[in-house]
Amino acid sequence: MTVSSSIDPEEITREGEAAIAAAASTDALASVETEWLGKRSVLARAHRSVGALDPEERKEAGRRLQGVRTTLEARLAARRTELAGSERAAALVSDRLDLTEVIPEQVTSPQARGHLHLVTQARDELEDVFVGMGYEVAEGPEAESDWYNFGALNMPPAHPARGMYDTMYLDIGEPETVLLRTHTSPVQIHLMEAAVRNDTLPIHAVMPGKCFRLDTPDARHLPVFNQVEGLVVDRGITFGDLAGTIQTFTSAYFGEGMQSRLRPSYFPFTEPSAEFEITCAICRGSGCRTCSHTGWVELGGCGMVDPAVFAAVGIDAEQWSGFAFGFGIDRCALMRHEIPDIRSFMENDIRFLSQF
Ligand code: FA5
Repeated sequence: MTVSSSIDPEEITREGEAAIAAAASTDALASVETEWLGKRSVLARAHRSVGALDPEERKEAGRRLQGVRTTLEARLAARRTELAGSERAAALVSDRLDLTEVIPEQVTSPQARGHLHLVTQARDELEDVFVGMGYEVAEGPEAESDWYNFGALNMPPAHPARGMYDTMYLDIGEPETVLLRTHTSPVQIHLMEAAVRNDTLPIHAVMPGKCFRLDTPDARHLPVFNQVEGLVVDRGITFGDLAGTIQTFTSAYFGEGMQSRLRPSYFPFTEPSAEFEITCAICRGSGCRTCSHTGWVELGGCGMVDPAVFAAVGIDAEQWSGFAFGFGIDRCALMRHEIPDIRSFMENDIRFLSQF
């Protein structure tokens, strides 16, 4: 557009208004403002040339040019509001997140995808092994009453075995003592009670879940860890069935050739009782920090269900017998993947976790 240098206020107004209306963006409008109202603008030149007029004309011309400025400023403000509004609306549309968008497989790297934590994978694999052996999978609550965690498992108040099961106690206004369970063995009680109630004995079940103890973390211990409990209650079950089950489990989960042993032990809820151990996968039995230089790592406890436990749930120990076990899931994963320190599971280091 050509800009007239003559002092014709109507023409300046007309041309200025046309330039303002033609600006297609707020940036373009800023240039128009400089061109028509700035120091070197047509209007500024017109103001300067007013000085050459005689006093009477000067006054009138000055008043009219001020009117032009006021008009153009008002048009500019209106156009700026209009352009800013449409630009904001356009930005909202283009910036909108489409949460339903499907990203093609090839643009996502394998590292960008998450996966189950190694301990969760181990829990799933252990369940699969036992389901393959004909077991059902059950679960129980993580907060338990004193009766389920201790009493029904033949550990009355002040029983010395409670000492190794210190945990967090919950003050939730219950008349009974409630605590974070120290092992998955209380789920045995829930299952046996339900089987008696519903007359559904025998039981062949595994029960995975979280356990809590005031244990100081070290290479083999965490204060929150996972166990998988096993319970078989049937007619004529013997310790041979327990040993055979553990042997089958060891080969299925760790592969053939893993050396394991049952070492006599004591649990108030099984009689006889044993600890189930395997050769330390880190040092292959020669002794290291992970196995406290013993060459063996304990994976769990087991034994024949104590008649006192059957009595607590109302099962006739003359007719029924059974075995139970409780394996540490984190420990199983530790040995299977030859990880020297169980604390690696809790450190949330993506470089470690993404290896599995
Ligand atoms: C028990 O918890 C018994 N309830 C097991 C049992 C069940 C015995 C049924 C007989 C019949 P124990 O305290 O030994 O036993 O724990 C069993 C396993 O849980 C250990 O061998 C270990 O693999 C795992 N475990 C125990 N404490 C921790 C811990 N702080 N961190 C990681 N794993 C643990």
